[in-house]
Parts: sequence; structure tokens; C-alpha cells
Amino acid sequence: MSLLEMRGINKSFSGVQVLKDVSLTVEKGEVHALLGENGAGKSTLMNILTGVYTRDSGTVIFDGQELKDTTVRDSEKAGIAFVHQELNLFNDLTVYENIFLGKEYTNKLGKTDKKRMIKEAEDLFTQLGVNVDPRARVSELTTSQKQLLEISKALFFEAKLLILDEPTTALNNAEIEHLFGIIRGLREKGTAFIFISHKMPEIFALADSYTVFRNGEFIGNGKLSETDTDSIISMMVGRTYSSGDIYTPRETGDVVLKLDHFTGPGFHDISMEVRKGAVIGMTGLQGSGASELLQCMFGITSSWSGSMTINGAPVKHGDIHGSMRSGMGLLPSNRKENSVIPDMTIGENLSLAEQTLSSGKFHIRKAQEQQKYEQYKDLLNIKAVSSQDPITSLSGGNQQKVFIARWLNTGAQILLFDNPTQGIDVGAKTEIYRLMEQLAGEGKTILFTSMEVPEIRNVADICHVFYNGSIIGTLENDQIDETTVMRYSTNSIGAQQAGEESYEK
Ligand SMILES: Nc1ncnc2c1ncn2[C@@H]1O[C@H](COP(=O)(O)OP(=O)(O)OP(=O)(O)O)[C@@H](O)[C@H]1O
Ligand SMILES: [Mg+2]
Repeated sequence: MSLLEMRGINKSFSGVQVLKDVSLTVEKGEVHALLGENGAGKSTLMNILTGVYTRDSGTVIFDGQELKDTTVRDSEKAGIAFVHQELNLFNDLTVYENIFLGKEYTNKLGKTDKKRMIKEAEDLFTQLGVNVDPRARVSELTTSQKQLLEISKALFFEAKLLILDEPTTALNNAEIEHLFGIIRGLREKGTAFIFISHKMPEIFALADSYTVFRNGEFIGNGKLSETDTDSIISMMVGRTYSSGDIYTPRETGDVVLKLDHFTGPGFHDISMEVRKGAVIGMTGLQGSGASELLQCMFGITSSWSGSMTINGAPVKHGDIHGSMRSGMGLLPSNRKENSVIPDMTIGENLSLAEQTLSSGKFHIRKAQEQQKYEQYKDLLNIKAVSSQDPITSLSGGNQQKVFIARWLNTGAQILLFDNPTQGIDVGAKTEIYRLMEQLAGEGKTILFTSMEVPEIRNVADICHVFYNGSIIGTLENDQIDETTVMRYSTNSIGAQQAGEESYEK
């Protein structure tokens, strides 16, 4: 008997059917990958399983029991834990209070047993190798600590089935490996996992079996050992897919952007000259400085020394509006925390940056907003019903597409994209690279960060590898490969040789 059987599940949101008669079967002790493009219905099905949404029809059998009219509490009681795609923590509470919310331990006198909760949280973190203080306020944690807390929280109550909806988007490669170690250990003890991710290498490294959805329909399932990446992607996108490299060298113009011994929080002594129309990739382990550099260039933080000039004119530091007026745009990393304005519609979220840039000059009319929306919706294949719907009604990946459009839409000449393709499905990733190439061809200059080396190789003319706040290696497109990047990122190439190499470029 399977651990989980979901059959004939249907679900509509305000008349739009997003799940059509889908099924999902998960065996005990396996990692089951749930795959599909942005908006395919993965998170919705998980929300149904865990009682967040009610289904319109269909059957769910878990561990031999039929689950009917499930509430969140019911599913937890049955042994299902869910780590949501969006962070689901209370920022004003402490770490241990988040773990035990609604399940607080009490002592003999009926008072909450703070000591015991802190101790058990501490034990769990030690066991998992997670470096978080149970007494810290959640608002003080970094995004990756929050993500790890979410996962630890789910692990605490020893579920039979653990759902991880894109758990790795905010984690660095070492943290991902660590998480996979934990998952493999629990799998050995019989815990089953539903694992949702858009990173193919991750899926093949971890999962045993898969189910593919497309447009709210079940397409197929099977064992990962009996298939390959291209077949899986073909099932997801509904046509034959081959993952060819798309990079083609292109001409670049004069130097538009210059950093001279630029130093600030998290990075130091960065010097580079970037030509008009160039696409520059930046990578390194999380916290190694690339993302910090982009934030400082855009004025979110202030630089400490050195300078940045655009077309020869110095850019004032720590001044976001000034940066925008100099023609820069920033897509911040971590959509979950930095981009979404939940009370606004899709259309408003899309035109936000343009509104800010043009404030005082003219007001962007609704009609124009609508036209832009239509244009980007087609271009990036954004799965949305109306620009007037709230942004939160979109699937995670479709929200990210709106934020990419937000910056493509500003007319900014220098685009800073911090981890632009997080949570984006494979098909749309290719579209985004094409778009980046096209923009570069039109004379825009792009600096982007990514942890995924194949992505960088697809578009970047040059890749800077960061280590400990500075550039330790610079690679031309044809030199970019995973092994080289990893050796630089971990500083396992002789420091002197690497230093010389980065200095030359
Ligand atoms: N609360 C909601 N209101 C209206 N529509 C919704 C709501 N939640 C999801 N949808 C719609 O249901 C469809 C499926 O969304 P879902 O979030 O399940 O996709 P997903 O497969 O998880 O995609 P992603 O990989 O981008 O996270 C989308 O078209 C989405 O817009
Ligand atoms: Mg989702």
C-alpha cells in the first residue's frame, strides 16, 4: 500500500480550473519530486493535501486512512508536515516560539515551559547542524537561517511525510548539501518526502521518483533512474526540449561603468570596467560578496571607499533614487522578502519602478500599464488571469517573472539582477536568458549573480568569482565550467595565481 494516494483532484479559483483530475502517489520512504512549470498547480495540490485549501472533488488516502474535509490541524495530526514556498514565520516572535506555536509545552503548574522548549530546539539544531539561536528573534535572522528554521520546524514533529516546496532557493550550495544529507538520513528511517524544485541537477541528485504536471493536468510519473533531464523537461513543457547552450559572442561598446577599488559592507577592493552591452555574471558562495556588491552599487547600502562612475560621472553612494536616475535598476534577491508588495495588483507591482523613476514628470496611465502587462505576459509567459488580480494570487515563479518585467520595463541602461531566475521554470529561464541577450544587443549592460554555473555560461561574456568579499577569479565565457568555478569559490586554487589572474582582466 502506498503512503499517499491522491486521486481525481479538481480545484478552481473564481471559475478558473487550476487542477484537472490530477493524481499523485507517494511510497513510504521515498523522495518524490513533484515537477511542472510555473503555475502548473504543484503548490495548490500541496495546499489541498494539507488542508490550506479545500478541494472541489477527489479522494485522498494517507497511511491507510481517507482524509476528508481536512484542516491544517488534521493533516499535521495524520503526520504530514509542510514547508511552504513562501516563508511562513512570525518575525516578532523568537525562534523557539515559532517552532512551538500552538503546541507549547506546559509544566505541572500549567505555565509554559520555556526552558524545555529552548533546550529541545537547541538539541534539534545541534542534531541538524543548523547554526541558529533558539532565543533569537526571527526578524534578526538571515533569509537562509529563516529557511533552515522552517525546515527544522517541520522536522521537529517527526512527520511521516514532509513536503518541501522549493526549499533551496535561499540556501547556498553547502547548505543545500547539508539539507540533502538530513533528508537522506530521514529517508533511510522511512520518512517520505515530496520535493518541489526547478533545479534539475538537484532533483536527479536527491529524488527517487517523480510526477509531472502541466497546466493543472497529470502528465506522467515514474522512476528518475529510468529517465533523463531532457525527457522530464519535455514532459513539463509539452514539446521536445533540448538543453543546448544559447551563448553567442557579441560586440560590446565603450566602458560605461567603472568600479575603482570599490569597498563596502561585505566586499572590498572591487575594480572593474564594464562595457556597454556586456553581460557580466558573478558567483561565489553565499555571503562571498557578489550580492552585497550589487546592493551597494544600487545604493541600498553605502560604500566605504573607492568609487563608482557611470559614463565617467561619479555616482553618489547610498542614494537609491540617484542610482535610478543614473540609469541603474536592481532586481533584488529573495523575492519572498524583498520584492512583493502584497496589497498591490499584478499591474501595480509591475509598473512600480517606472512610476518611481518618472515621478514628477508624468503619471503612468492605466492604459499604458495594461499594455506593458500584456507585452510582458506574452514574452515571459506569465500565467495570470488579469492585471487587476492581487500579486499574491500568482504562483511563486510567476511573481518572480513580474519582478523581472518590473526592471526590464524601466528603460534602465544598467541592469543589476541579483539571482534573477530563482524559482523560475526551465522553459522561462531560457526566455529570460534570451531576453538578457537581446537587451545586451540593444546596448543595455547587465550584471547578474547566480549560483548555477550552467546559467552563467549560457549568457555571460565574463564571470567574476567572488571569495571572501573580493574577486578571486575572472573567467571568459569559454572558460566557465563548474569545476573551475567551484575551485575558485572555495579558494582551492593557489591564492597567488588566482590573484594574478583576476588582476590581469
Ligand atoms: N489563491 C489563489 N487565487 C487565485 N488563483 C490562484 C491562487 N493560488 C494559485 N492560483 C493559481 O493557480 C495556478 C497554479 O498555481 P500554483 O501556485 O499551484 O503553481 P506552481 O506549480 O506551484 O508554480 P510555481 O512553480 O511558480 O510555484 C496558477 O495559475 C495560480 O495563479
Ligand atoms: Mg509553487
